Order: sequence, then C-alpha cells, then structure tokens
Amino acid sequence: MRILGIESSCDETAAAVIEDNTKILSSVVASQFSTHAKYGGVVPELASREHLRAIVPVVSAALEQSGTGFGDLAAIAVTKGPGLVGSLLVGMTFAKSICLVHGIPLIGVNHIEGHIHAVVLETGPQIQYPALALVVSGGHTHLFEVQAGFVYRLLGRTRDDAAGEAFDKVAKLLGYSYPGGPLVDRLARHGDPRAVHFTLAKMKGNALDFSFSGLKTAVLRWVEAHNMDAEIAARRKLIDATFEDWLRASPQATLDLLASFQYTVIEELMRRAIAAAEQIGAQSLIISGGVACNSGLRERALSARLPYPVYFPTPGLSTDNAAMIAAAAFPKYQRSEFDGFDLLAHANLTLA
Ligand code: KG4
Ligand code: ZN
Repeated sequence: MRILGIESSCDETAAAVIEDNTKILSSVVASQFSTHAKYGGVVPELASREHLRAIVPVVSAALEQSGTGFGDLAAIAVTKGPGLVGSLLVGMTFAKSICLVHGIPLIGVNHIEGHIHAVVLETGPQIQYPALALVVSGGHTHLFEVQAGFVYRLLGRTRDDAAGEAFDKVAKLLGYSYPGGPLVDRLARHGDPRAVHFTLAKMKGNALDFSFSGLKTAVLRWVEAHNMDAEIAARRKLIDATFEDWLRASPQATLDLLASFQYTVIEELMRRAIAAAEQIGAQSLIISGGVACNSGLRERALSARLPYPVYFPTPGLSTDNAAMIAAAAFPKYQRSEFDGFDLLAHANLTLA
C-alpha cells in the first residue's frame, strides 16, 4: 500500500513514496538555499515561485524512482500548514489536482505532526507511549505529549523565536551564511562552550514554554562590547565559502561565543524536555525537526542517562522532507480520515 507525500511549507519542495508505513521507496528534496542565501532568510514570494518551478519535476522524480504510477497510490498526503501560505498552496493545489484527475483520496497533514512521524517511520513499534516529543526547527519549538493512537497535547512552546531561527539570526548577525544552524554546529565544535556565560530564560506562567529572544539580545550585546565589526564585515564578503574558509575567518573568541550560544540553546531545550517528560511519565523521548541534526543536542540527549530511550530521526529525515508527511498520513488512511477538495492551507495551523 503506497502513499505519495508532498511537502512545500517553507523553502524545500519535496515528494516521497512510502510503502506500508515502513519503507521509503523514494524521497526527493529540492532545496532553495541558494535562492535565499543572499537575503539571509527565506523570502516568501521567491519561495512560492521556486515551488512552482520545482513541483512537477520533484513529484515526477519521486514516482519514477519508486516505480510508482498514479494507479498504485492508495492516497496522496499533502502538508496543509503551518507554513508560508503561498508556498503551501503550490503543493496543496498540485496534490488536489492529481487526486481529482485520478480519483485518489486526499489527506491533509500538519507539518509538525510530520516531523514527529519522521521518527515513527524509522523506529516504528519500538516507541512506547506516552512519548514526549520535542519538535525543534526553523519555525517551531514545541513540546507535545504523544499518546498511543497519535493523540497530541501541547505542553509548551516558544513565545518568540524558534530555536532554529535563533541559530540562523545569531549566524546572520555574526556575518555567516544562511541557514546558520548547520554552520554554527560545526564551528561550535572548535570553541569552548563555557567561555561565555549566558543566563537561562526564566518563564513566568507555563514553565515549559521557551524564549530565545533574550539570548539573541545577549549575543548582540556581547558583539557590541567586543569590537567585532571588521571580522564580521570580512565574513560577509565571503562568497561560495567552504567550511575551512569559515573556520579561518573565525577567531577563537568568536568560536567560543558560538559554542557558548549553542550550549545555552541546548540547555534550554533539554531542561524543559526532561521536565515535561517527567511530568507526563513519558516512556520515550522523540526529538525531531531541523535542529535535531545538531550534534551537540544529540550528544547531550544521548549521554543524559534518562530512564527512557531517546529517538532522533536520521539527519535526512530531520529537516523538511515529504517522507514524514506520507508517514503521518498512514494512521489517518487506516481510520479513513480523508479530506475534501475544500481543504485549506493554514499559515498558523496548530497540532493541539
Ligand atoms: O525542519 P526544517 O528543515 O524546517 C522548518 O520546518 O523550519 O529546519 C530548518 C532549521 C533551520 O533554522 C536550520 O538552521 C536548523 O533547522 N538546523 C540546525 C542544524 N541543521 C539544521 N540547527 C542547528 N544545528 C544543526 N546541525
Ligand atoms: Zn519543518
């Protein structure tokens, strides 16, 4: 039983074919990094246009690579939100059109639920419920209780920036390229995480909520106090730089700053994830989304000796992809939860 997944919520056009909820027959991702890099972030209008250009070749490649025809599809799953509406509409309109022409059932999937299912797809029945899911990406930082049967309860969320956004903004501030997360991760390995002490956020109200704006401001203040203009301007001029180029352009004090910033983000994430897991009596911890690629976060979570197993997706399934969208549609398919052609794209869709 095959499901085609289509994802276009932000700056990746992706399509994948999954069989029986366990096998990835194909997963194609066309990234728009090079389009947005010079602007230091995703430009919504450009993103929609890139999706329009990519959607047909990406879906065709996913079908071809998996040897799948439209007649073999049990359903088409498409991201319905949250995300950029102009981008979401491209994937959604395309999915609806194929469903209409070929008489295939349509299933709308919440992007955040997709990130959780990236882990379910790879790990399967091993995961014990209730699980605590930490979804950390460029757009989201959420803690959910996941009950058996995929029932979700929101326990905490960021009140300002998402963790990935904080990585990207700090990188941009320091003159590094977009997206900053993967680069900061690699550079931070060359710095001392204890060199700069940043205070952890104290949340009024829900103690499981996150905030990264104070940390971002603290980095800005540090930069202003340390006369870094010349080195930042030099980095801004680097074009097509390799990792070695970035490393050479980063004095030790800057590497220490990056390592300390990353250490603080990881502490913010892990302390609340562990507290939330304890609160719900979690049997497993799922960490997913683009920031789940971070090597420091993986090390911290896997070395914490927690009383429950920790599951991460492989890096290719941590960042945006369509395999996770198709995977999240399987339980809905089994429950015959299909959508009509009046399905709408929602920028601020919530999961629970
Ligand atoms: O899940 P994703 O591809 O897109 C969203 O749904 O937002 O996540 C992208 C985010 C970006 O902010 C990127 O900088 C961050 O994930 N990211 C990382 C790493 N790899 C990707 N952040 C920290 N360390 C990484 N290794
Ligand atoms: Zn995502």
